[in-house]
Formats: sequence, structure tokens, C-alpha cells
Amino acid sequence: MSLYDNFGRPLLNLRISVTQRCDYHCTYCHSEGEIKRTNDNNRIEMTSEEIVHITKIAITLGITRIKLTGGEPLMRHDICKIVAGIADLSGLKDISLTTNGLMLSNIAQELHDVGLGRINISLVSLNPETYRTLTGGNLDNALAGVKAAVNVGFSPVKLNMVLLKGVNEKDVSDMIMYAEKMGVILQLIELDPVNVSSVYYNSHHCNLKEQEELLRQRAVDIEQRQFMHNRLIYHLPNVNVEVVHPIENTDFCMHCTRLRVTSNGNLKTCLMQNNKLTDILTPIHQGASDEEIKQLFKQANQLREPYNKTLNQL
Ligand code: 5AD
Repeated sequence: MSLYDNFGRPLLNLRISVTQRCDYHCTYCHSEGEIKRTNDNNRIEMTSEEIVHITKIAITLGITRIKLTGGEPLMRHDICKIVAGIADLSGLKDISLTTNGLMLSNIAQELHDVGLGRINISLVSLNPETYRTLTGGNLDNALAGVKAAVNVGFSPVKLNMVLLKGVNEKDVSDMIMYAEKMGVILQLIELDPVNVSSVYYNSHHCNLKEQEELLRQRAVDIEQRQFMHNRLIYHLPNVNVEVVHPIENTDFCMHCTRLRVTSNGNLKTCLMQNNKLTDILTPIHQGASDEEIKQLFKQANQLREPYNKTLNQL
């Protein structure tokens, strides 16, 4: 039985940030909407046992899909232990992870072996210069990561491409061809105004309308992911392109089935909202029972609210 929030939305997914640390410096990064703590010494991270424990409780409340994110999740030396612990729990349909791909080629096989089902790799451009300017990283490393992910058999592998006005829009057709060649799914993502300056957002945001129109013309089928923000998947003849368009999109928020866990163990209702955090790590440290943590999950679920609302939800 799933939990439902006050807007009739079931709670099905948990997006867990396992660290704030990252080896990239992406200009557009929303840092999962977490308040950035720059001082490493002040950073609290959940242990692998705590992450698995929290996931186990989440499953008893009807959550079936887990996404591990960061920062960069592969910065954690115990990432395989985290995945293995989660994969051992019964009741999950999906365990996935989002990475910048830098360290992926070395660890892809092990992640797969311990039970990671699928993977998303951030790939903002196929142009080495643009890639370096936007991320501070080396494109070849990320491409090696994509190759490794495909070779070890993650299914699907998705490429996350945040669209930035005048910067990588022209790279979309190359990226579609690359996705087709590699047999992976491309995700075109609208820039969120989170943890970036308003100047950056206003000069880089593009609403994906033009891209969607081009995709519509080429698509043989268009699918809607009902429990995933009603996102559209454009089935082109040999490749699928998914569009993530959250801004001012009431449909996206109405079909959100997600709760987040910040790297320091707070339940967070929405990428865009930082005012409704529920600390579960402190109670866990203080010896709270599973039942008490469940109650905190239920409380956090009640705080979930669509960021973009339709008039009849006001
Ligand atoms: N807007 C939209 N998506 C973003 N991502 C990172 N920052 C932003 C942003 N400002 C996406 C990247 C990464 C994933 C974790 O979040 O594509 O793959």
C-alpha cells in the first residue's frame, strides 16, 4: 500500500543523495537543491548502513524505486556496499544511480554485479571544449564511462543533457546520433533555477519547445511516463529521447511521486522547496525505532506539495 499526499499523489520513489562531494564543477549544477556546505569538515554524510536502513523503512511504506545521486555518488568509496545493501532488500522494482561518469569505467562492472539495475550519466556536450568549460572535466573519461555502462549491461543507460541556451543547443542532433550508436536513451533536461544565479538562469534557460517540436516531427510514437511526472518519451526510429520539462509545468508536479533524502539525512519534499525538511538522521542517531522513523516519513509525505499548481489545487 502506497502513501498518498494531500494532493492525491502516491509516494513511490526515493531519491537519495549519498554525498555533496563532487569532482566536477558544473556551471549549471543544482546540487539536488541542497544548501551547499563548502567546508568538508562540517559535512555530515549518512553511513552506508544508515542509507540501507532508511531505504528498508521506505519500502515498508510502499516505495519501490530508488535513485542514488550526489554530488557525485562514485566519490563514496563504499558506493558498492550501499548498492549491494539496497539490492539485497526485497520489494524494490528499480535501483538506479546518476553519475558524471568520470570514475565509472573502473567501477561499472562491480556496480552491476552488486545489483545496480540502470544508470544515468550526465553528458552535457560531445564537444570536448564545451564539455570542459561546463564541467571542468575531460570528455573522454565520460565517454569511457558510457561505453563501460553499456558493455556491462545496465539497462537502460541514459544520458542526461541539460540544455543551455546558446551553449549546447546545437549539440542535440549529435547527441541523438551518439545515443543511437551506443544504444542508450537520451534525456533532454530543462535548466532548473536552483542553486544557480538568476543572471545565469536568465541567460541560459531554454524551454525545450523548439527541440520538442523537432522530436515530434521525427517520432514514430510518443509515450507518457505516468508515474514519472508525465514526462514524454519520443520514440524516434532507432533511439528514444525523453524530455524533462519541469518549469511552470503543473502536469510535471501533479505527477510527481518522489521524496528526497539529502546527504545529511533530511527528507526533502521537492527539488525547489527547502523550507520543509524533516530530519531523520538525528532521531536515528538517538536510537529512534523504525516505527518512529516511519512516522517521520508519513509526516514528510504530508508536507509534499506540487511546486507548480493548477488553479483547482489552490
Ligand atoms: N537543472 C536541471 N538539471 C540539472 N542537473 C544538474 N543541475 C541541473 C539544473 N540546474 C541534472 C544533471 C545531472 C542530474 C543529477 O541533475 O543532468 O545528471
